[in-house]
Amino acid sequence: MKEIVIKVREKTNIPVYERTVENVISAVQSSSDIWRIVDLSEEPLPLVVTILEVLNALGYIEFRNGVFLTEEGKRFADRYGIGRREDYTCPYCKGKTVDIEVFKDLLEKFKEIVKNRPEPKHEFDQAYVTPETTVARIILMHTRGDLENREVFVLGDDDLTSIALMLSGLPKRIAVLDIDDRLTKFIEKTAEEIGYNNIDIFAFDLRKPLPDYALRKFDTFITDPPETVDAIRAFVGRGIATLKGPGCAGYFGITRRESSLNKWRDIQKLLLNEFEVVITDIIRNFNEYVNWGYEEETRAWKLVPIKVRPTYNWYKSYMFRIQTLEGSKGYEEEIREEDIYNDEEASTT
Ligand SMILES: [Fe+2]
Repeated sequence: MKEIVIKVREKTNIPVYERTVENVISAVQSSSDIWRIVDLSEEPLPLVVTILEVLNALGYIEFRNGVFLTEEGKRFADRYGIGRREDYTCPYCKGKTVDIEVFKDLLEKFKEIVKNRPEPKHEFDQAYVTPETTVARIILMHTRGDLENREVFVLGDDDLTSIALMLSGLPKRIAVLDIDDRLTKFIEKTAEEIGYNNIDIFAFDLRKPLPDYALRKFDTFITDPPETVDAIRAFVGRGIATLKGPGCAGYFGITRRESSLNKWRDIQKLLLNEFEVVITDIIRNFNEYVNWGYEEETRAWKLVPIKVRPTYNWYKSYMFRIQTLEGSKGYEEEIREEDIYNDEEASTT
């Protein structure tokens, strides 16, 4: 086992532990599908691939039309007591912890409206969540007291959360911005069609500091940042900057598929030490993303040892809810780095 960890460390800077290798071997015992193995192991995709390659070179794993343990690999797993990874996620709520049935009508209306949505654009790192996820977000936010008669800011909206918010009729006011004017136009058109007036819609690049009209005016924000610490500082920090003061809430997704737990620790430090907010909820795999159509252009595709398109929505993220307290502060500086979207653990951009 130690030898495997050393060999993996020679090939990547992503932190690897014996536990990481165990997670991957455990996942391979459950599935031969490379996307499912990443999903189940909950390790960053580039690290999973490196571990599989090392295990392959040692004769523990073979790549056929999928990923399989060899006889030697099975003996290795037995020797270390590594069993198959089970998935006993609650089948009723699919792990989201909220009852989607209560907003069934809203879900039907939402699905109808988004049939004509703009398709994801690679240049903006877009990938939208399932309609069920968007509606579950509304239910979650409502359950936490963050929607009814609240002023809600949506920072980046390829998920069209602002449309589900309008349909709910719960917020007092909604503001939404996105860099992609195909999306802002679509949201504008929908607002007109359903006759909703309390919404401000802006085409805006979040690398720029927010203007005054957005700062310290809102009760709740939601955003879905790219998975680097710098991007999270920019997106989540700007979200916090839109909040009125203590007692406000923010929602955002963080994945395991592009972020090691070392990165998670850095993200949590950022939240606690720089922004001085508190994390109240982390809901595993709450956000489920529809496969985005440009898979073959991604780093993930170049890396995976078996080039098969995913057959199910393997990409998920955990939903974070943070709340502001006395002393909490956001981020209002300009982002000067060229590329805040990528780091070594990223693979879907
Ligand atoms: Fe459940």
